Amino acid sequence: MKTLRTQVGIVGAGPAGLVLSQLLHLQGIESVMLEARSRQYCEERIRAGVLEHGTVDLLNQIGAGRRMQREGMVHEGVELRFNGQGHRIDFRELTGKTITVYGQHEVVKDLINLRLSEQAQIFFEAEQVRISEFENAGNPTIRFLHHNEDYEVHCDFIAGCDGFHGVCRPSVPAGTLTLYERIYPFGWLGILAEAAPSAEELIYCYHERGFALHSMRSPSITRLYLQCNPNEDIASWPDEKIWAELQKRLEGPQGWLLNEGAVIQKGVTGMRSFVVEPMRCGKLILAGDAAHIVPPTGAKGLNLAVADVYVLARALESHYKTGNGALLDAYSETCLRRVWKVQRFSWWMTSMLHRFKDENRFDAKRQIAELDYVTSSRAASQTLAENYVGFPLS
Ligand code: APR
Ligand code: PHB
Repeated sequence: MKTLRTQVGIVGAGPAGLVLSQLLHLQGIESVMLEARSRQYCEERIRAGVLEHGTVDLLNQIGAGRRMQREGMVHEGVELRFNGQGHRIDFRELTGKTITVYGQHEVVKDLINLRLSEQAQIFFEAEQVRISEFENAGNPTIRFLHHNEDYEVHCDFIAGCDGFHGVCRPSVPAGTLTLYERIYPFGWLGILAEAAPSAEELIYCYHERGFALHSMRSPSITRLYLQCNPNEDIASWPDEKIWAELQKRLEGPQGWLLNEGAVIQKGVTGMRSFVVEPMRCGKLILAGDAAHIVPPTGAKGLNLAVADVYVLARALESHYKTGNGALLDAYSETCLRRVWKVQRFSWWMTSMLHRFKDENRFDAKRQIAELDYVTSSRAASQTLAENYVGFPLS
């Protein structure tokens, strides 16, 4: 058995865990990270790809932004498409801010490289991860198996950054956390295609056959999504069927064409809104998807994870430098204010743009009226824009 001692034990090397360990490192606070998957798996896992301006600034500030600055695509707006017509929401004009399109796995790759170049201790492929003694005055401990060797990490705090399916949240004694949840009666079927994007910006499309989204990863790779059944079998969606459906839903003004190409990745994701309160139990602090999930309409997941660990890193800094625990005590409340605003926005975007099984003709008319309002009223467009580009990191 190997025993390690550190200040903060971080479970999970997704965006939350990685950004946290870098922020702590910059403050001279030590951490050890353990991750269930391999480095390659983490670096290749396809997720969303929209960064709020605040996320971009933070990645730059912590030294993880060099490739993002070169390869990320700065977008000044998005299109909402309905009834075959596009309506642009101009972020720069409405908020003075922009977003950056850059895949989450690229962010993860850059952060892992950065952390390892600074001799960070990251255990990939950690098995049987367990946490204990984090309640109250205990001695927080993380145990795991790595390359057939047992490890024990003793730390001051455990950061539960292990995503929705991780071990940290379920390790909290029953009755301590309150769960808030909404599961949507649909999912997204997503593809990556070797095709040049068909527009310069993202297109969120409301269509009677269901929602569709045009996004991108580079000038030669398009990312596209279709609303589908929550448990859709991807095997029943050959590429031709996916393209035919995308062509129908994304139909635009005369002369607009959806570029097709070889499909290089495809999958189905379910959609849920989920929050636990509080985001802390004693010396276990939850951040990112471990504490909350948003549906992907609006691409807030990564940004919300980054906002949590920004708050957490500042609180830990204050604790270690001045002995003042006030920011740590306020961590959950501080994060949850943003979390619930982002939950509201993601739910609202999802509700406005998808077809619901139990809806009637009234609902469909109401959705169109809402889209018409959002795209024709400056006040309403600005509300969407302000939420989309993201609130400042507090
Ligand atoms: N032990 C160690 N690591 C674990 C365990 C475990 N038992 N369970 C899960 N993990 C790892 C996962 O393999 C993953 O790498 O924790 C990491 C959690 O990362 P994410 O799921 O990416 O979550 P987070 O860092 O909070 O980032 C939120 O990711 O899920 C997307 O769309 C979401 O964009 C959002 C972002
Ligand atoms: C993506 O590019 O993967 C993406 C973009 C916008 C979203 C969700 C996903 O709302």
